[in-house]
Amino acid sequence: MVVENIVWHHQSLTKEQRRQKNNHHSAVFWFTGLSGSGKSTIANAVAQKLYELGAQTYVLDGDNIRHGLNQDLGFSDQDRKENIRRIGEVAKLFVDSGQLVFTAFISPFQEDRDTVRTLLNTDEFVEVFVNCPIDECEARDPKGLYKKARNGDIPQFTGISSPYEAPKTPELILETDQYTIDECVAQLVAFIKKKNWL
Ligand code: ADX
Repeated sequence: MVVENIVWHHQSLTKEQRRQKNNHHSAVFWFTGLSGSGKSTIANAVAQKLYELGAQTYVLDGDNIRHGLNQDLGFSDQDRKENIRRIGEVAKLFVDSGQLVFTAFISPFQEDRDTVRTLLNTDEFVEVFVNCPIDECEARDPKGLYKKARNGDIPQFTGISSPYEAPKTPELILETDQYTIDECVAQLVAFIKKKNWL
């Protein structure tokens, strides 16, 4: 749809002013990985850690967003694309508000993740591959969904009957079958500190 007759309003407070007030950079850490790989767990743990360090953070989580903003979307390729497009726009608003935002969506398609990247400046988008072999995700099966998918009760389930495209060149890889949650959080915090973002 073409946006006609709508004029962009510039806010009186700028992103730079908000960052200065918060005393840190703002960016989106775009977690991608299979269901059960640990995206939400790590996103929440790192937000907690950064909160303790005095940072403004927010977590956008797949299951939660699908209860509200995106409750009209299912799991077809087209709906997943729209899911990620909307979250990308929301994440951009959070970056504009001066926060460090962590998104936890499977986001299975490289093209859709790349589209979100183009919405932001180069130092505002960090693709984080939460890498865990599907056998391990299936063994964990925290929501019992892999079992249902194997039984044919959930169609188009990522990794089983719907594809997952691993990131080609992510800024960060967290191997949740090799490291503990705390170790993954430490790797992320180290990344942020190395960039001088905190
Ligand atoms: S995405 O593919 O569009 O990025 P999203 O992260 O929002 O997915 O939602 C994934 C979550 O929805 C999973 O963690 C799981 O709990 C649930 N889910 C329900 N049906 C499916 C399905 N067919 N494929 C993957 N996840 C599903």
